[in-house]
Amino acid sequence: MSNTNASPYGTLPPASPVSARKPISLPRLNEMRARGEKITMLTAYDATFAAVADAAGVECILVGDSLGMVCQGLASTVGVTLDTMRYHTESVVRGLQRVQGTAWVIGDLPFGTYHESKEQALRSASVLMQAGAHMVKLEGGGWTTETVRFLVERGIPVCAHLGLTPQTVHALGGYRVQGRDDAGAAQLRHEAIALQDAGATMLVLEMVPHALSTALTQELARCHTIGIGAGNGTAGQVLVMHDMLGINLGKNPKFVRNFMIDQKSGQVSVQAAMAAYVAAVKDGSFPVNAEHAW
Ligand code: KIV
Repeated sequence: MSNTNASPYGTLPPASPVSARKPISLPRLNEMRARGEKITMLTAYDATFAAVADAAGVECILVGDSLGMVCQGLASTVGVTLDTMRYHTESVVRGLQRVQGTAWVIGDLPFGTYHESKEQALRSASVLMQAGAHMVKLEGGGWTTETVRFLVERGIPVCAHLGLTPQTVHALGGYRVQGRDDAGAAQLRHEAIALQDAGATMLVLEMVPHALSTALTQELARCHTIGIGAGNGTAGQVLVMHDMLGINLGKNPKFVRNFMIDQKSGQVSVQAAMAAYVAAVKDGSFPVNAEHAW
């Protein structure tokens, strides 16, 4: 007899194919780093893609404010609101719960929701944590250090984000590689160490020369570097899901590989493409410094 209670739309089975995996936690990520296993992260913004990414073996799901561009059609992430981030974080977390998923969920604090004061940051972070995130991410160094310390002291794991920080694209003068000259590299290093000392346990490095991100990774023993356009020397990698699946009409940035058309993996589904991404990050075949980095 057919199950008339089953949803006809976007079916999610009750258990993920990787449900044998223990829930991803900070200690588990530390263990992976200690044994030299790369950490994989993808963005996801809804229940189905989050569940599929989890089933493909992705350890960390970032509910990124890149959803401003890929879901909302905005020109940048600057227009994304906290309420939108709460909605998408809840959707992702529900999707994972439906399949008994085990991925670590990171909620992105959007522009203007942590800039005013540490207290404002705590209020905003609480919204995403109550939506089900395990960690929040915020952009920038220097002034953010005390905010990170304030959140971490209050039990909120924090992922920092340095290099190309899209929320400040206007101040940076465009989407450009950061830390290329000695002064820029020294500032980035100084900010990264301060963020680790403040308690940040993850650090996204975006569009940073691979030599710099590799050196930072070696220096930051307690903070896992996650690269995007930062070469293959980081502790992990992240890509925007739509880009690595080729769901766009333009030219992908240099640091992206389209895993849907990647001939080597021969995948025929989104889940297989995501699994190919996981395998390529783990065996070191993605990213290729000469091709995807500076
Ligand atoms: O918002 C986002 O998706 C991000 C990643 C590009 C790292 O911050």
